[in-house]
Amino acid sequence: MANEQASVSLHFSDGTPDAELPIYRGTCGPDVIDISQLYKKTGKFTFDPGFVATASCRSNITYIDGQAGKLLYRGYPIEQLADRCNYLEVCYLLLYGELPNEREKRDFEYLVTHHTMVNDQLQYFLHEFRRDAHPMAIILGLVGAMSAFYPKSCNVLDPAQRNMAAVQMIAKMPTLVAMAYKHSVSDPVIYPRNELTYSENFLHMMFATPCERYPVNPVLARAIDRIFILHADHEQNASTSTVRLCASSGTSPFAAIAAGISCLWGPRHGGANEAALRMLMDILDRGGEAHIGEFISKVKDHSSGIRLMGFGHRVYKSYDPRAKIMRETCHDVLEELGLKNDPLFKVALKLEEIALSDEYFVSRNLYPNVDFYSGIVQKAIGIPVSLFTAVFAMARMVGWFAQMNEMIEDPAQRIGRPRQLYTGAAEREVLPIEERQ
Ligand code: SDX
Repeated sequence: MANEQASVSLHFSDGTPDAELPIYRGTCGPDVIDISQLYKKTGKFTFDPGFVATASCRSNITYIDGQAGKLLYRGYPIEQLADRCNYLEVCYLLLYGELPNEREKRDFEYLVTHHTMVNDQLQYFLHEFRRDAHPMAIILGLVGAMSAFYPKSCNVLDPAQRNMAAVQMIAKMPTLVAMAYKHSVSDPVIYPRNELTYSENFLHMMFATPCERYPVNPVLARAIDRIFILHADHEQNASTSTVRLCASSGTSPFAAIAAGISCLWGPRHGGANEAALRMLMDILDRGGEAHIGEFISKVKDHSSGIRLMGFGHRVYKSYDPRAKIMRETCHDVLEELGLKNDPLFKVALKLEEIALSDEYFVSRNLYPNVDFYSGIVQKAIGIPVSLFTAVFAMARMVGWFAQMNEMIEDPAQRIGRPRQLYTGAAEREVLPIEERQ
């Protein structure tokens, strides 16, 4: 719990009475100024487009130090979690606050495994989508429909229903994402198998067919499990803030998650891994490393509107710690698959080398972020580029639920309702149509 650390005295040059506001200090990270009484005391709002300097809540879940390139889930460094745990252990940690012991881990894995199937009628819904529909459009539809298929998990104010919704969505997202993929390639849907681990099951549902099993390569299963861990939560990012704001109205948890998926789809957020891969493939098509110089010139020219996708971050102003782990995983996967000389990876390494040395990028702290390498790993495994953001949504599912739970359980939280600085027309008269210019 944050404690009141000090206070700040505001003096206004326009005659507004001075105001004293409390300052709180958390476990680590910047102090915050509590402005909840500012409007009552001064008649003024704060102004912070994009919420660059605004703390929307207290949270005990994830801590990011952007300058130091540090990421903690419930206090544990992401490097240790990626190295010593699997994704379902991390899910348990994010949802319930502590890493599971042997029995808790076994029970949680059993619970999730036995919720991996989806209501078979969802397939009829799936089959009505065009074969070339973007997987995120399909996932958005299927997740939104979950409220219709699982009405007993829809009361966001009931902890038991919220927990069941979390287990159902964590368990079913791999099935739904694999269904979306099979639909796009006109293959029959492959059902989950209970003897497989979470990550093995996803790869099985993606690449097995009714005629042929898919023997899961443990290196690839470990790589996809690591992608899930690295993307599991990330403080108050755009999609998580969307889920919190949406759930604050008391809507179904599935509906709030669908809102988060909508936000994640954007290329500046979760859509960046797809955009980063398409960028690498475009450079390759235009001549590979020989084209990089021309491409970088366009990125530096703002009028081109071209960005180095997979680089830069609102919070990390040093190397994204997830990107470091993802880079190692990328090496492992390409080594395992004999793709070390993969031309795409070579272009990626060249872009990284430039971004870490060129003044334009260094001066703007544009380091590789997690999306830069996760796309290469997924492509090497055989996951289509258009599915990357759906994989990100699958991984982030647990973070969205952990943050939603925390918001609902926070006594200080109520329906989110920001204000504005109004700059529109002053009050005026509606003229009869014959008098309008
Ligand atoms: C994710 O928030 C999270 O935690 C998100 C995430 C998570 O786990 O949830 O980490 C996942 O979304 C990672 C970010 C993925 N997005 C991308 O890789 C897309 C490319 N990156 C950017 O569009 C951008 O860096 C953002 C959106 C990520 C951050 O934007 P900011 O902090 O608002 O920075 P900005 O847009 O104000 O840019 C500052 C300067 C500008 O130049 P100047 O006006 O100062 O001259 O840097 C430039 C920008 O033009 N810039 C880039 C750039 N990103 C910023 N220039 C070229 N390439 C880029 N990628």
